Amino acid sequence: MGVLWKIVVSCGVVILLISYQINKLITPGLAPKLNETWWGDGNFSKIDETIYTFRINVSNEVLQDLKYRLNHARTFTPPLEGTQQQYGMNTNLLKEIVLFWKTKYDWKEREKIFNSYPQYTTNIQGINIHFIHVKPESPNKKVMPLLLLHGWPGSIREFFQLIPLLTTPSPDKNFVFEVIVPSIPGYGFSQAAVRPGLGAPQMAVIFKNLMKRLGFEKYYVQGGDFGAIILHQMSVLYPESVLGFHSNMCVVYTPLAVLKTLVGAVYPTWFTRQDHVERVYPLTHYFSFKLEESGYFHVQTTKPDTLGVSLRDSPVGLAAYILEKFVTGTNFTYKSREDGGLRDHYNYADLLDNVMVYWITGSMPTAMRLYAETFSKKNYLTLGVSRMPVQVPSACVRFRYDLYASDGMLPELYPNLLHLADYSGGHFAAFQQPDLFAKDIFTAIEKFEKFHGHSS
Ligand SMILES: *[C@@H]1O[C@H](CO)[C@@H](O)[C@H](O)[C@H]1NC(C)=O
Ligand SMILES: *[C@@H]1O[C@H](CO)[C@@H](O)[C@H](O)[C@H]1NC(C)=O
Ligand SMILES: *[C@@H]1O[C@H](CO)[C@@H](O)[C@H](O)[C@H]1NC(C)=O
Ligand SMILES: *[C@@H]1O[C@H](CO)[C@@H](O)[C@H](O)[C@H]1NC(C)=O
Repeated sequence: MGVLWKIVVSCGVVILLISYQINKLITPGLAPKLNETWWGDGNFSKIDETIYTFRINVSNEVLQDLKYRLNHARTFTPPLEGTQQQYGMNTNLLKEIVLFWKTKYDWKEREKIFNSYPQYTTNIQGINIHFIHVKPESPNKKVMPLLLLHGWPGSIREFFQLIPLLTTPSPDKNFVFEVIVPSIPGYGFSQAAVRPGLGAPQMAVIFKNLMKRLGFEKYYVQGGDFGAIILHQMSVLYPESVLGFHSNMCVVYTPLAVLKTLVGAVYPTWFTRQDHVERVYPLTHYFSFKLEESGYFHVQTTKPDTLGVSLRDSPVGLAAYILEKFVTGTNFTYKSREDGGLRDHYNYADLLDNVMVYWITGSMPTAMRLYAETFSKKNYLTLGVSRMPVQVPSACVRFRYDLYASDGMLPELYPNLLHLADYSGGHFAAFQQPDLFAKDIFTAIEKFEKFHGHSS
């Protein structure tokens, strides 16, 4: 056989092997069956199924200690001349927020706001899960259970303004919501796992069990950030329970989507709407932006416990780390603003409430571990639930300054996409624009109800 033939045959074999691998990656497997793992201390024991009422009552000791730490924080390194947030949280801005924290922020007053929402805890698979549960008053309408899930570095606090909008009947809708708003395990008032492995798919098991404990067999789910990732898994794993999935962070990270993104570098409008092309192309901008903003992701996925030590020890460090995400998460361009744009869209007290959830519970290290557990080889590559399509009715709500998936990619993971909406705004949409957000949830779920043939 001539040399040329040898080359041709070798190339053919290589191409076949590559195609086979790609095909294997592209074809999603069947949804795995996950174990009801015991995440608590010690060995499996009989579960106490009681639902306990819960109130936050932070001790004076913790508050005195916080005061001491804020007063004794070292002076900050001044920002470089002429820079705003490009090197991370601007310390002049941080100084202003810390001054507010020390002089105007009164936790005992804020605690009353937290406690105005009825809260409970119950033990699921060995760990105590904390959640808000609000039922509508005198409904006179069909009441639908809705699970709302926060992400990192958020908390239940993001939903305070949204909750009453969902539980109050709207004159033009024949239904209203009963909302269940848990703290993710390891975040705030929910206990963390004591052993490795509690990533997004395993959390889906926990929340399915929580809803079952509360007596709900079928319900709607809504989430952004990690809430969206966990609920994606839940919708794939338990399509018989999830009536519909409303997400304000639909992401499509499949091998095929990567291929489409690359092809789009040459033919941008093949998969992306003309007016969205600038959100993905040129690819050099897209990737350099991803690199600039994803350092935290890599650290949290690999060494969360190292970073966790200082964030659990220093309230000003914790605030800097969390609030930097609120700057860029609200509007990418706020990196070049002295004030980070925070006061335009939030107020310092509300933002500090969210920081306090992490501080008083010391939960930043366990919260960051969710990255390591979710993007592990076992969960992300082997189980691969995040590459499996959601078959239940879905709604994707895209905010301008959030992760983006183009129209040409969404059907890969959301073949039953009944609602797609685009808004200006950022990553913390429920927190930033509760009215718009509530309206969109009602609109999308009305479509889901019609799909199920439930409409009157
Ligand atoms: C469930 O547990 C069994 C026994 O420990 C284990 O072999 C299996 O891999 C687990 N399944 C998953 C999806 O983790
Ligand atoms: C758990 O069970 C194992 C095997 O039965 C035993 O060796 C171990 O001591 C138990 N641990 C606790 C904390 O009870
Ligand atoms: C909080 O706890 C303290 C004692 O630890 C108690 O005196 C106080 O009444 C409690 N406050 C609330 C609102 O439960
Ligand atoms: C983001 O900031 C830019 C200017 O920096 C402004 O033009 C735009 O309207 C802002 N968008 C939102 C949604 O805040």
